[in-house]
Amino acid sequence: MKKILVIHGPNLDLLGQREPQIYGKTTLKQINEQLQKLAKKKNISLKIVQSNHEGKIVDLIGKSKAKFDALLINPAAYTHTSVAIRDAIAASGILTIEVHLSNIYSREEFRHKSLISPVAKGTILGFGPKSYLLGLEAIAELINP
Ligand code: DQA
Repeated sequence: MKKILVIHGPNLDLLGQREPQIYGKTTLKQINEQLQKLAKKKNISLKIVQSNHEGKIVDLIGKSKAKFDALLINPAAYTHTSVAIRDAIAASGILTIEVHLSNIYSREEFRHKSLISPVAKGTILGFGPKSYLLGLEAIAELINP
């Protein structure tokens, strides 16, 4: 069975109560349940981690290639700031799909740049929680063609 690492970046633990006009009312727990349900259908196993700490995310990605077939990541605010997470993805060489709930290009200018997109296979954004499911669908097709 193929294994996927799912990483939710900072403040995504607050989904449901955090700026619901932007991020919606779905909680992280509900998103994770939807992901697990889809993964089961695709015969894929998921390890899901949320962290507010850049170094922890870098460590996870650094060890990911040995244990996982792909990475699904919402780097959250680190999307726009973290050379370290970008370099970890590039160094590990793991197949990576970047997702965002909101359309970062229709928001404040500081969100218009993703440091992660150039090292991701692809990016899915703007579809709310569905962005994660579309990201997992894309990974499933890539690893189980
Ligand atoms: C986000 C967009 C980021 O700009 C923001 O910092 C987040 C969430 C999204 O999923 O829309 O925390 O990654």
